Amino acid sequence: MTQREKDFPALLERLRPECERIIAQYEQKRSALLPMMHLFQQNEGFVSQDAMQAAAEMLDLTPAEVESTVSFYTLLYRRPVGKYVLQVCRGLPCTINGAEDIMAYFREKLGIGHLQTTGDGLFSYEEVECLAACDRATCMEVNLEFAYDLTPAKIDEMLAAMRAGTYPVAPMPQTAAPASTWAVPQDGQVGDGKKAPGAVGVESPDNAGGVGDASGLIMLDNIINRDVYFFHRTQERAVVESRSVAELVEEEAKEGDRAGH
Ligand code: FES
Repeated sequence: MTQREKDFPALLERLRPECERIIAQYEQKRSALLPMMHLFQQNEGFVSQDAMQAAAEMLDLTPAEVESTVSFYTLLYRRPVGKYVLQVCRGLPCTINGAEDIMAYFREKLGIGHLQTTGDGLFSYEEVECLAACDRATCMEVNLEFAYDLTPAKIDEMLAAMRAGTYPVAPMPQTAAPASTWAVPQDGQVGDGKKAPGAVGVESPDNAGGVGDASGLIMLDNIINRDVYFFHRTQERAVVESRSVAELVEEEAKEGDRAGH
């Protein structure tokens, strides 16, 4: 039995009142699952099998229900991670602003790639989709706290501060030593150390697409060349349109006819 497993019963008893407080907030017990899993992760550094088992018991769920929920969310780690989880945005606005160079710089400085943890267990590194801070591209999260306007000099400063223990974001607790990746083998390609390619025609898992990536153009072609594209109008538009969706579709079809489509 590992030290973490030995310590778990005491941790569970310490967290139980908070779990009960969370559960009491919801009409249905099962709604407390995600906040409870975050609570355990904040205390163990990841969501252990023990934590999932305990949650299943407290919420009257099966372990399979708990694990299938936890495994859906990439912000819940089912294996130990580094004390600092560095999640660099590889979305389009960040890519236009230089995310490819920023990611390459991180990989070089850390000596690891996507979904990997450094040998000393200090850093886990992940390239993620849009973090919804595009106005401050390029950006990232450090243990879920944002860092904006990244440059190599800023990255050097951040990594040095994390190594020195002076970075303003607290390190994650680490109750078990992380392996070289926290990906779980069942998660398809990810278990092989690969990730889904960033875009059409992009094979390297470390290539986010971006410049030279034809995906955007292919999508644009699809939109422009589709005669009845606006037939896919959603009902939401009807809320702000005085005309009904059926009327709009009919009008657009007529306009299409006039335009010779
Ligand atoms: S693309 Fe990076 S935050 Fe949106």
